[in-house]
Amino acid sequence: MKTEHAPTIQRTDYAPLAWTVRRIDLHFALDPQATVVTSRLACARNPEAAPGPLLLDGEALETLSLTIGGLDPAPGAVRRGETRIEIDVEGDEVELEIVTRINPQANTTLSGLYRSRGGYFTQCEAEGFRRITWFPDRPDVMARFSVTLEGDKAVCPVLLSNGNLVEEGDLPDGRHYARWEDPFPKPSYLFALVAADLVALERRELTASGREVLLQVWVERGNLDRCEHAMESLVHAMRWDEETFGLELDLDRFMIVAVSDFNMGAMENKGLNIFNAKYVLAKPDTATDVDYEHIESVVAHEYFHNWTGNRVTCRDWFQLTLKEGLTVFRDQQFSADMLARAAGAEGDSARAVKRIDDVRVLRAAQFPEDAGPMAHPIRPERYQEINNFYTATVYEKGAEVIRMLHTLLGPEGFRNGMDLYFSYHDGQAVTCDDFVEAMSEANGRDLDQFMRWYAQAGTPRVAARGGWDAADGSYTLTLTQHTPPTPGQTEKLPLVIPVAVGLIGPDGADLPLQLEGEAAPGATTRVLELNAESRQWRFVGLSAEPVPSLLRGFSAPVILELEEDDARLAFRMANDSDAFNRWDAAQRYAERVLLELGAAAAEGRALGVPVAFVEAFARLLRDDRLDPAFRAQALALPGEGYLLERMQPADPAALRTAQIYLGAELGRVLAADWLALTEGLVEPGEYRYHPADAGRRALINLALRYLCAARVPAGTGLARRRFESASNMTDRFGALAALVHGALPEAEGALAAFYERYRDDALVLDKWFALQAGAWRRDAGATPVLERVRALLGDPGFSLSNPNKVYALLGSFFRANPGEFHLADGSGYAFWADQVIALDAANPQVAARMARALENWRRFTPVLREAVRPQLERVRAAEGLSPDVGEIVAKALE
Ligand code: PHE
Ligand code: ZN
Repeated sequence: MKTEHAPTIQRTDYAPLAWTVRRIDLHFALDPQATVVTSRLACARNPEAAPGPLLLDGEALETLSLTIGGLDPAPGAVRRGETRIEIDVEGDEVELEIVTRINPQANTTLSGLYRSRGGYFTQCEAEGFRRITWFPDRPDVMARFSVTLEGDKAVCPVLLSNGNLVEEGDLPDGRHYARWEDPFPKPSYLFALVAADLVALERRELTASGREVLLQVWVERGNLDRCEHAMESLVHAMRWDEETFGLELDLDRFMIVAVSDFNMGAMENKGLNIFNAKYVLAKPDTATDVDYEHIESVVAHEYFHNWTGNRVTCRDWFQLTLKEGLTVFRDQQFSADMLARAAGAEGDSARAVKRIDDVRVLRAAQFPEDAGPMAHPIRPERYQEINNFYTATVYEKGAEVIRMLHTLLGPEGFRNGMDLYFSYHDGQAVTCDDFVEAMSEANGRDLDQFMRWYAQAGTPRVAARGGWDAADGSYTLTLTQHTPPTPGQTEKLPLVIPVAVGLIGPDGADLPLQLEGEAAPGATTRVLELNAESRQWRFVGLSAEPVPSLLRGFSAPVILELEEDDARLAFRMANDSDAFNRWDAAQRYAERVLLELGAAAAEGRALGVPVAFVEAFARLLRDDRLDPAFRAQALALPGEGYLLERMQPADPAALRTAQIYLGAELGRVLAADWLALTEGLVEPGEYRYHPADAGRRALINLALRYLCAARVPAGTGLARRRFESASNMTDRFGALAALVHGALPEAEGALAAFYERYRDDALVLDKWFALQAGAWRRDAGATPVLERVRALLGDPGFSLSNPNKVYALLGSFFRANPGEFHLADGSGYAFWADQVIALDAANPQVAARMARALENWRRFTPVLREAVRPQLERVRAAEGLSPDVGEIVAKALE
């Protein structure tokens, strides 16, 4: 683990390996500190590659033996390095047998084979398999796996691996074994094993073609009552992929396993998905509506990978978005369809709410990334540590790029492209070009220029100008694109940007659109393709000046620069027929007000909220024809991370003052409306996870937030009562959060009661940690959140070695609470550096994620910048720093 020499890997350096592996036969003698792995490899020369030695990767392995064709290697035939073995082989085929010894107990990285709560689990993406045995550990090597697990029956009564169970039985000394065979060749990153004391919820289903499949959700004993929703989600995902893409489950059994210690969300290992427990376990008393929603989408995401990722995989890790962008797009579409189906007549609104959620994530996480030192195209050109490239850009912007293809080609064209992609590449490891070429060929459409989305970093700006000609009733729209330079990429070429456009008439109704040269008016929304630096469109046949509604449904991942005065934003807030844009108009208006308040706070001027804004806001609040879920979105102020990105220079303390002030004002001035709303909404009866109920709960919780922010007595009383009498976690936690963020005197007692009730429930405690770390503070005299976070590190429920705990406490503080983290005296940054260094010694991937919290430091006020730099430098100089954290801090300091 040395930073200075972490080599940079270049995308264009790709070359196929001289040798590949056809079959691998693995035997695991499981033992806490000395697991012995015997690997038999059937290797073959790759006819498509230049001749060369057979290459194997390894990391942290103790090699006990290596034989070639059953014999000890000839002198000089094997060159061994720390992480590489090279073997000269004659002929075109060879069998290797390698025995290694590994220590799962000591593996704190959670990559490779590790232990969690007494069990054994693996995580191999991206490069964890090399921590298990020597192997050409890259995704273009696809082998057929057979796996024998042998372990102590009392410790691990359940032995699982990929594919089908072919044999099991008892052995002497209380041990037992199981043998698994995966019929599909796969890259090593999709290998998995689980050996633990678990129980399963089981279900048998028929696939579309009538094959019976066994579905299992494996959890710790005692959690069986929290698996139903994950199972339901899995069945829905199966059906959806059959109906939408004609894709069926290809195995006889499909397993999901929940594990408490996991770096990421979940992993799509073939037939044996391993999940962070938080994306499996749910029951009304412990999980919120949002948790239920996330479980549904993550279960679907991993299931969808079976085709987009596993059957067709990535040639190299630069192609990561090939599987991730496409699979995120698929899970987003799935969730939107599920929500729309449940919402019935309100289906369109439900879809818009899902789109709003997705765009919030993109703007909060991906836009800042694309504007900072880590900016990279969805297909990066280079990396030092691949684990650092599981990013919002590869995932979320990658999904937006796929969505644009879907928009440009239409649902049928997209489906035809998918069909062609599978017909060409099933069973292969391919590139993003292969995917886009299939789309292109299936639709007879040139997508060469579109490929620039894969190569260019940075969020494009699209500037819009409108010209109204009253004399001939025409409206000319000029769109101009510009992408700011990003590190290492100063020149940007024009992209293909689909811009969905509508024109709104003075009465608020959409106008039929007729472009110059067209015979008759048509639809009220249409997609314009901006494929040059600047283009113009002339709409004709209009009787009055229209109000443009641009980028409807967020048709491209860009920043729209459109000059609109307050009155126009208020008009679109009230009238835009595109629900996404209606929400966006509210966000833009709120952003304008908040940034102005922030500037006033920074300069010590008096604060005040424009009356017109309150009126526009109140109209949405009072409009009970609107779906509650949509109203909850439209009345929630823009996120802090997004706003800081738009603040020049970023001043988190001033922005926080502005947020607290605006929240309290909207609560105070509109108190009667908020209270009426909580009384007027029909309270859902017994808890069920359903979008209509969830929307009502979200809106009530939002009302409590405003009422508590304003300390309206009737509202704080209501929050307290709801906290005490809640029948489900959504209500209970919503009320608690309102009390805490309102910094009310009742908050401490409520936090203590919550802790008492859930002290033995790790997942619920994560919420408790996250809430306190993300808390807003109203009075300068109150205990700083930093002090509280420091104290919570010592709570018996906390552990630095559990990623969920780290994300809940430290992640929430560093990333979700800028107003409290960025302290002018630098004490927050010193604490950050201490924690990053401590984490890095045990788990570099988690440490690197925390390290990223400060990468955009150059955008902050001079005082903060001066306080950040020495801490970044301290981390960079830390003894034994991992390449993971090294890459992040080096880029931040560049
Ligand atoms: N491939 C996983 C997913 O997106 C994410 C993951 C990456 C999990 C690396 C673990 C390690 O579904
Ligand atoms: Zn994924």
